[in-house]
Amino acid sequence: MKRRLIFLITILFSLFITSCKYDFILPVPEVPITGDVSFATQVAPIFSTGSKCTSCHKPGGQSPDYTAANAYAAIVPALVNKTTPAQSVIYTFAGTTTATHSWKKLSAGEAAIILQWITQGAKNN
Ligand code: HEC
Repeated sequence: MKRRLIFLITILFSLFITSCKYDFILPVPEVPITGDVSFATQVAPIFSTGSKCTSCHKPGGQSPDYTAANAYAAIVPALVNKTTPAQSVIYTFAGTTTATHSWKKLSAGEAAIILQWITQGAKNN
């Protein structure tokens, strides 16, 4: 009887801990960015400043290549979702806790700039 109870509790507990569903989509930032976001001066530098992303994502390195000269072609249209900007891979990926990117997340401000840029049509401006 006691064993059965322990067994039952174990099962229930494991169901409980495995039932958590994580939502990796970043919350839409509360402070909206106003005005036109420029890809060249605001978005591209997010990836290359301090080699945050371009330490790996560079020519001859990990694709996509996010260095300033190649970033736009690498990101648009493949990694943006203009219909649902918040689901764009470029927006969600580095903000997730996936193993590869857990240590190079976008800051909330950077994510907001990227989201706003996609919302404005992901222009090469
Ligand atoms: C330490 C190396 C490294 C750094 C730094 C890095 N990445 Fe990556 N990235 C990878 C690897 C390896 C892959 C492919 C494997 C995977 O999907 O995890 C990848 C894949 C991706 C993908 C998926 C591309 C696709 O076609 O699905 C995106 C988007 C991405 N990275 C964005 C970023 C961004 C944005 C940054 C900077 C904030 C960044 N990465 C920094 C190594 C890195």
